[in-house]
Amino acid sequence: MSMVDLIVGLQWGDEGKGKIVDLVAKNYDIVIRSQGGHNAGHTVVVDGKKYALHLLPSGVLNPNAINVIANGVVVYPPQLIKEIKNFDKDIKNKLFISDKAHMILDTHIAIDKAREKLRGKNAIGTTGRGIGPAYADKIARVGVRMGELKNIDRLLEKLEHYYEMNKGYFEYLDIEIPNMDDLKKELQEWQNELGCNIIDTTKYLWDNFDKNMLLEGAQATLLDVDHGTYPYVTSSNTIASGALTGSGIPPKKLNKVIGIAKAYTTRVGNGPFPTEDLSEAGDKIRAQGAEFGTTTGRPRRCGWFDVVAAKYAVTLNSCDEVAIMKLDVLDGFDKVKVCVAYERDGERLDYFPSDLEGIKPIYVEFDGWEKSAGITKFEDLPENAKKYIEFLEEKIDCHIKYVSTGPDRNATIIR
Ligand code: GDP
Ligand code: IMO
Ligand code: MG
Repeated sequence: MSMVDLIVGLQWGDEGKGKIVDLVAKNYDIVIRSQGGHNAGHTVVVDGKKYALHLLPSGVLNPNAINVIANGVVVYPPQLIKEIKNFDKDIKNKLFISDKAHMILDTHIAIDKAREKLRGKNAIGTTGRGIGPAYADKIARVGVRMGELKNIDRLLEKLEHYYEMNKGYFEYLDIEIPNMDDLKKELQEWQNELGCNIIDTTKYLWDNFDKNMLLEGAQATLLDVDHGTYPYVTSSNTIASGALTGSGIPPKKLNKVIGIAKAYTTRVGNGPFPTEDLSEAGDKIRAQGAEFGTTTGRPRRCGWFDVVAAKYAVTLNSCDEVAIMKLDVLDGFDKVKVCVAYERDGERLDYFPSDLEGIKPIYVEFDGWEKSAGITKFEDLPENAKKYIEFLEEKIDCHIKYVSTGPDRNATIIR
């Protein structure tokens, strides 16, 4: 029987989704991105060679998979063109882009940066990729879609009107409206480079339900625009149900949901983070885990595993299985902490609340272990590492099927 499975981040992103998508991609015929844009940075390491993917689905490293950028993604065409060109294999004949996917324009990027600057100390810490402004235009029904590249003159007319309507706003933000002749050339180039790959991917996916499909989530549950730590979130629905709207796959077709979490927690950008560790331990996690953003190079904020947040994410996404990543990063710690509940105003909370103001973590402490790096069998893990994984499994109430012990595809325990 064919299946549609989904990979989703359970924390604040960068959990290692790319690694697991690549690991399991051999079981799928089609790998689909359904939301986000080039704010994502998914790293795949195969035989020591590192690939950083932003818009291309991580299935591209699998020689057989077809890759789909579906309707819910926001596409910045220059980035996609660059990624296709820089990839060391020809993947154009294995890539489809939805004609319904919205386009990120240079002015969206300029708005993103200008608004962040205006927010000052309240900045979200976005990736500066124009994601929010592009989705805002989509929801306001003034966005432009990839399929519109087929008729450049009509698209230009629409954009001319769009810039006219927003003249005051652009002036206020000190953003230059593009020259229409230059814009026309750019749009033509995008059509020349990508036109052949733009199709109705909803129909394509429906026509291929006899094949196995994998939806590759970008960002993660706690960055979801509805269910995350608003306003410190991204502008899409990153959770499992968002992947369905973002691809046109009917809900009942979804088979299995695999949630991805690190053995600790990281966050890049601003916003609440109850288990953040600002002491030496946090610095040690950052150093051992090379916790610097794939997309922006920013240092990631680091802290401990948060069971309350993970349980919330497992439930929201109805996870069938979980992958715990980067266990090796905790190698050599004397003690490892896990947050099992929150406290606020003297009250214990076991549920991830809508607002994290004043939340303090309640920790339990584990004895550390020497080395898990590179281990591929659960029984070969140090006893304390096994206890740690088994504790997380019990607390999040979901089978931990994968434990990752290094960046390479092979450094993985499958239970
Ligand atoms: P994604 O956005 O969820 O795909 O994750 P990123 O690629 O942004 O960040 C995960 C980082 O951790 C990448 O650099 C991976 O190569 C790396 N990584 C993944 N799994 C492991 C692991 O088990 N151990 C270590 N040390 N690194 C890992
Ligand atoms: P992957 O797919 C981690 C964060 C940004 C910022 C917030 C809003 O690699 O896990 P945006 O540019 O989306 O408007 O920024 O979301 N963010 C991510 N953090 N991993 C990501 O993607 C992210 N994509 C966006 O840092 O806090
Ligand atoms: Mg990432």
